[in-house]
Amino acid sequence: MHIFHVITLFPQLISSYCETSIVGRGQKAGKIEVKTYNPRDFCTDNYRRVDDTPYGGGAGMVLKPEPFYKTFEAIERRRQDSPVIIMTPQGVPFKHKFAQELAHEDELTIFCGHYEGFDERIRKLASEEYSIGDYVLTGGELPALVIIDAVSRLVPGVVGKNASVVDESFADGLLEGPQYTKPAEFRGMVVPEVIRSGDHKEIARWRRQEALRRTAQRRPDLIASLDLSEEDRKFLADI
Ligand code: ADE
Repeated sequence: MHIFHVITLFPQLISSYCETSIVGRGQKAGKIEVKTYNPRDFCTDNYRRVDDTPYGGGAGMVLKPEPFYKTFEAIERRRQDSPVIIMTPQGVPFKHKFAQELAHEDELTIFCGHYEGFDERIRKLASEEYSIGDYVLTGGELPALVIIDAVSRLVPGVVGKNASVVDESFADGLLEGPQYTKPAEFRGMVVPEVIRSGDHKEIARWRRQEALRRTAQRRPDLIASLDLSEEDRKFLADI
């Protein structure tokens, strides 16, 4: 069982997504569990304030350290060294390889931010900081859901067929190439002959080449870090 502890001021955003979707199925099947903790419940002042004005002045509000520390300390983590992630636009760009690493852990804690950001001292609780892209969202819930979704589907038993998780974009560092289903011809668009041929060796070669072509055209930055065969190199040189 893989457990996600999510610290958030908007727990319904997390639970509504995680109760529907494939993640919900994974929860019902007992493969994963998503628990939420609201720092507002850990405030001790009458106003239940979770944010305050920034020292030094400036626009916006900053999340206060006390409620976040108290929330974190109230979580019954299985291990003191399990990953603790803060979602922030200043984090390391999240990649499929991180999802693969995190899927091997049995427990993750994720902090979602809001307003102008966290008091810097909250960061001391985290072992990693991740961004889901170079844009700013209103809060860390969507980014946390992105991580939960990307990790959950790699936990065995959450997605039906494990092979469909192995063979897809990014698993081998390539974007996935074109796919087709029946009919063989639709409005004049024809499914390539080779994948209807039944020749598994030729089909595997075609898939590899189409994945290489798509990656080279759309994400040339990914090509540099690939493990390429002589045949791959020749193919790429000719497109
Ligand atoms: N919080 C706000 N924007 C974010 C982003 N792009 N990635 C992660 N956390 C965020």
